[in-house]
Amino acid sequence: MNVVLGVSGSIAAYRAADLARDLMRQGFTVRVCLTDAAQKFVTAALFETLTGQPCLTDTFEEPQVGRMAHIDWARQADLIVVAPATANTINKLAAGIGDDMLTTIVLAATCPLVVAPAMNPQMYANEVTQESLRLLATRATAIVEPQEGDVACGEHGQGKLATNEQIVATVNAVAVRKKVLAGKHVVITSGPTQEPIDEVRYLTNRSSGKMGSALARAALLLGARVTVVSGPVQVSYPLQAKVVRVRDAVQMLEATVEAAQGADIVIGAAAVADYRPADPVVGKVRRSSEPITLTLVPNPDIIAHVARKYPAAKVIGFAAEPTSELTVAREKLVRKGVFAIAANDVSQPGIGFESENNELVLVTHDQEPISSGKRSKLQCALWLLQKIVVS
Ligand code: C5P
Repeated sequence: MNVVLGVSGSIAAYRAADLARDLMRQGFTVRVCLTDAAQKFVTAALFETLTGQPCLTDTFEEPQVGRMAHIDWARQADLIVVAPATANTINKLAAGIGDDMLTTIVLAATCPLVVAPAMNPQMYANEVTQESLRLLATRATAIVEPQEGDVACGEHGQGKLATNEQIVATVNAVAVRKKVLAGKHVVITSGPTQEPIDEVRYLTNRSSGKMGSALARAALLLGARVTVVSGPVQVSYPLQAKVVRVRDAVQMLEATVEAAQGADIVIGAAAVADYRPADPVVGKVRRSSEPITLTLVPNPDIIAHVARKYPAAKVIGFAAEPTSELTVAREKLVRKGVFAIAANDVSQPGIGFESENNELVLVTHDQEPISSGKRSKLQCALWLLQKIVVS
């Protein structure tokens, strides 16, 4: 496994030399990238000698003519560790700034990121730094919290770089996580469906596709091959996922049945319209002063159909209900014949539809329901997939 060790300009940069060695002892191939400030404390020669690998320092440094080092390193990295991570680098990573070699590598990478902060306690406690760390955590970055103690500037508080043992343990945990779904195909339905009334109007719902997108990201982080069957959404899906775009439930059924053939896990995160207009009008329904009646017919239940057709796949449905009661989720588990239901209470403010956060309760046939707690949708998705694998 290739690890890029990013070192930024904290006095703790000297500890990165031992960290590089400790990571190599775990079997990782370690390549180091130093920020300008890090080079005030340590040198590229030190890390090149220790690791036997080139060390990058400058954004425009191109050791191989015709190649772009930041893209090459980002592509080849299985994991990036930034240790020590200064307040400046953390805030840049959270904001997506790429103004040096390290931050451009992180921007171009799709692999997991581990960040080990080290700085003055006030800089660590600073609202901006804390907000950035929270933001990074919602994007599944593993943060190795700094320790409390005496720091170089003479103050006492939280800001000392975590021990190498703690950093290596986190790197190992993240590396193991990458293999949880290796070789598996995960299919996710996502977003709303649009059921045509006529050629310009449709019935739909408030699903944003954010949960589906988070599930796709999580499944990729866990090493799976991912296909998303998505209704019309604004949200973006990860580039490494195959995305099949559909409009209505009937198209979604067809696309999901095709994608789910041989799949290991199928997750129904789409908010499929339960009914569709029986006879969509060709052209436009015209205004008149008379009331009109729209006849609706039931849509096929996509995940129930997939669960019946592919009994070897673990099929998981979502149950967005305006209650924390699990009766409906249990009833859906049986009626749809699925492996599990992820229930979420959409009556609670700040979770569910259109929101950044969620709280899932996993309901299975033979285990007690378990809750993810309130977290970002990506963290919920990682939690859900990991629970499914061991259930
Ligand atoms: O029955 P209900 O619509 O509440 O069930 C929600 C779950 O079933 C979700 O996982 C949703 O994606 C899936 N579903 C489906 N096809 C439908 C309706 C819901 O796959 N027609």
